[in-house]
Amino acid sequence: MSEMTTLNFMNMLSLILLCAFASEMRFCVSSKVYVVYMGSTSNEDPEQIQKQHHQMLQVINGGCIEDAQASHVYSYKHGFKGFAAKLTAKQAEDMTTFNVAGMPGVVSVFPNSKRMLHTTHSWDYMGFLANELMPIPGYSAKNLENVIIGVIDTGIWPESPSFRDHGMSPVLSTWKGKCEVGEAFNISTCNRKLIGARYYLGGYEAEGHSTRNPKQYRSARDSLGHGSHTASTAAGRFVPNVNFKKLGNGNARGGASLARIAVYKTCWESGCFDVDLLAAFDDAIRDGVHVLSVSLGPEAPQADYFKDAVSIGSFHAVKHGITVVSSAGNEGFQGSGYATNLAPWIITVGASSTDRDFTSNVVLGDGTKLTGESLVTFGMNASAVIISAADANAGYFTPYQSSYCLESSLNKTKTRGKILVCRHTGDPYESKLEKSIVVKKVGGLGMVLIDDADNGLAVPFAIPAAIVGNQKGERIITYINHTGKPTAQIMSATTVVGYEPSPRVAAFSSRGPNFLNPEILKPDVTAPGLNILAAWSPAAAQKLKFNIISGTSMACPHVTGMVALIKALHPSWSPAAIKSAIMTTATTFNKNGKPITVDPDGRIGNPFDYGSGFVNPSSALTPGLLYDAKPVDYRTFLCSIGYDEELLHLVTGDNSTCKNVFSTASDLNYPSISVTNLRDSHSIVRTVTNVGEPISTYRAVVSSPRGINITVTPKLLNFNSKRKKINFTVNFKLTAPSTGYLFGSLTWRTDKISVTSPLVVRVGSSNSGLLR
Ligand SMILES: *[C@@H]1O[C@H](CO)[C@@H](O)[C@H](O)[C@H]1NC(C)=O
Ligand SMILES: *[C@@H]1O[C@H](CO)[C@@H](O)[C@H](O)[C@H]1NC(C)=O
Ligand SMILES: *[C@@H]1O[C@H](CO)[C@@H](O)[C@H](O)[C@H]1NC(C)=O
Ligand SMILES: *[C@@H]1O[C@H](CO)[C@@H](O)[C@H](O)[C@H]1NC(C)=O
Ligand SMILES: *[C@@H]1O[C@H](CO)[C@@H](O)[C@H](O)[C@H]1NC(C)=O
Ligand SMILES: *[C@@H]1O[C@H](CO)[C@@H](O)[C@H](O)[C@H]1NC(C)=O
Ligand SMILES: *[C@@H]1O[C@H](CO)[C@@H](O)[C@H](O)[C@H]1NC(C)=O
Repeated sequence: MSEMTTLNFMNMLSLILLCAFASEMRFCVSSKVYVVYMGSTSNEDPEQIQKQHHQMLQVINGGCIEDAQASHVYSYKHGFKGFAAKLTAKQAEDMTTFNVAGMPGVVSVFPNSKRMLHTTHSWDYMGFLANELMPIPGYSAKNLENVIIGVIDTGIWPESPSFRDHGMSPVLSTWKGKCEVGEAFNISTCNRKLIGARYYLGGYEAEGHSTRNPKQYRSARDSLGHGSHTASTAAGRFVPNVNFKKLGNGNARGGASLARIAVYKTCWESGCFDVDLLAAFDDAIRDGVHVLSVSLGPEAPQADYFKDAVSIGSFHAVKHGITVVSSAGNEGFQGSGYATNLAPWIITVGASSTDRDFTSNVVLGDGTKLTGESLVTFGMNASAVIISAADANAGYFTPYQSSYCLESSLNKTKTRGKILVCRHTGDPYESKLEKSIVVKKVGGLGMVLIDDADNGLAVPFAIPAAIVGNQKGERIITYINHTGKPTAQIMSATTVVGYEPSPRVAAFSSRGPNFLNPEILKPDVTAPGLNILAAWSPAAAQKLKFNIISGTSMACPHVTGMVALIKALHPSWSPAAIKSAIMTTATTFNKNGKPITVDPDGRIGNPFDYGSGFVNPSSALTPGLLYDAKPVDYRTFLCSIGYDEELLHLVTGDNSTCKNVFSTASDLNYPSISVTNLRDSHSIVRTVTNVGEPISTYRAVVSSPRGINITVTPKLLNFNSKRKKINFTVNFKLTAPSTGYLFGSLTWRTDKISVTSPLVVRVGSSNSGLLR
């Protein structure tokens, strides 16, 4: 207000008139919510930062304080600087070049985009237990209580047995988080397990979405289930005898079951907005979490790193020593290059199967038994006539349209009392449950769903039903075509353990290459994300306490749990070191010792499918060597992909320069190596840090793709107590003409430890990392 006092009355009057005029104008010039991102804080007073934001808004609003205040949504002032406000397109444009003496600079201005949770479909749920994944020999469970996992998601169902706090010690005094009071949520709702709960609706409501409806809570309480599911997968307590309608019966336990949880609810019925996500990151950094789990992201292709909330928020989180784990996305069915959350400072996780499956038998009249996927725990009591839905088309629907069992496309007279064979496009956002409801409505007793993507997803249905692949589907259609009175019976679903081969990369899991920087391989690793059983919100669809769902969203918290375990054992390791431990110990082989395959067609996978491979929680605790990186290395990375110093100063808040630019972005000391434009020969230097036996020798084992000779020098790394870091060079030499992407690997080996990096080479000089 100090500015105001200097104005005389007349000025004030004219300002008020100006405001009124500006408000009138606003009816014709529509405003939207934007993020004005202003980089790092440098020990400034948060109050002062907020005041500057208001001053900037006042300037941009022609001096009008009321308009400035009305347009303000959030100020970010702890982990980084910036604000969210309602701006016209012109004002947003002016902000990007905002340059007023004494005012801080602006890095980027971008619209408040909506992000989606990385589950396949809120209708389609399924299961597996996280318990057998996490044997942790000889680590101190005590220290795990000092690790705080922040979960940015749909909130939490605090009364779930997964979040009980029995036997846990009081919360550390250094914790600055809080339990925010809201609908059906008060301070005593938190406990020693759930130590923080905040919610963000400013950006969501500013976009015209309402949180005031009986199905939602205006608090951190979860009404969708997703957040309770991810939090309990990462850090849920041991809960005996958990199941989904008797399927997948067993004990449930998160990866780091004694770690603390702090939830940041940013996602509501219609999605999660950038503006709210940034507010959550800002608070989480100040609160003092150690790991952030972010099972959501943009749709591909993602925006530049500094126009995307998860990239910006995680950049600053990592700078503060917080490891950020995120999901790659569920757009695998679209082809290559659709992975998101691509920044090198994030751990990006793809989804794979486990050895547990939920299947239902379809018994044809001729005795043939075919197995499909299902979560329906009731079967048909007797067999019934089976027909193709294409033969039951109603009204103006073509047989082709009806074969997909669309709403109203089926003729009741032809379907009543029968089993229908329906088709699915393979798009994971097309609900399978809904099709079963359509079939039930027209009197169908059962459904066989032919899924082109046969992606192994077991889902609940309204009637006995099973999902089969194309091959089995054709078999059934042939039987129908060649039988006078074709019949079938669909049995109830059962749990199959030891399903082979496993793990497989899930069909929906988004794949590389990295659309923004093919020099950095993404995803980084793969983890279980198919048919995962974990805690749920009883207020959500199906009213369950535990539920089975699929998505890279479910894979992400498995890695979050691993990060917490590593952090408990090695509190001083950087986010990059922890990521390296998880990546270099991952495997590219399935439980049968064969290369990991990819659903639906079973082709042999490559690093674009699974990054460094399927994670191994116990090996990751003792990785031997680390590929470490510091925040300054990410700055150098940014310089080498074209960020200029001026922008870099704003982002980093210090005097860092672009003096040490990498020759290419591939030179970042990353645990995987990608060379993008190999013409003749190219060398990459990497640095490894010994965290294993002080005196040890590692031997290089290289697998070169055909046409490229990959050599490593030196071939032996001799560590003694004085030499903890050693550089080595990997040379890639083209020996035969080839094109496109080729894959190999480098392993540093002792008799006990293997430290493996995938090698990705693109031969030639095409200028796009995109295969799509
Ligand atoms: C809120 O606090 C009261 C009194 O401490 C308690 O009875 C109630 O169960 C609490 N929880 C919720 C969700 O309202
Ligand atoms: C099967 O029989 C049981 C017991 O007779 C009955 O409750 C159930 O509804 C029947 N199921 C179907 C799908 O007809
Ligand atoms: C449904 O099928 C019956 C019998 O084939 C036919 O008489 C009727 O016209 C059909 N109705 C629609 C809406 O297609
Ligand atoms: C089954 O018959 C339909 C025509 O009724 C035909 O379009 C389809 O190709 C046949 N499919 C098989 C597998 O025999
Ligand atoms: C940046 O450099 C200027 C001038 O050399 C100095 O005054 C300032 O303290 C430096 N800032 C930081 C964050 O190091
Ligand atoms: C690869 O290069 C190394 C060193 O230049 C050489 O000794 C070796 O024979 C080459 N291998 C092949 C298969 O060309
Ligand atoms: C190792 O490589 C790093 C990065 O390229 C470099 O800064 C450092 O000087 C090298 N160390 C040695 C001993 O060569």
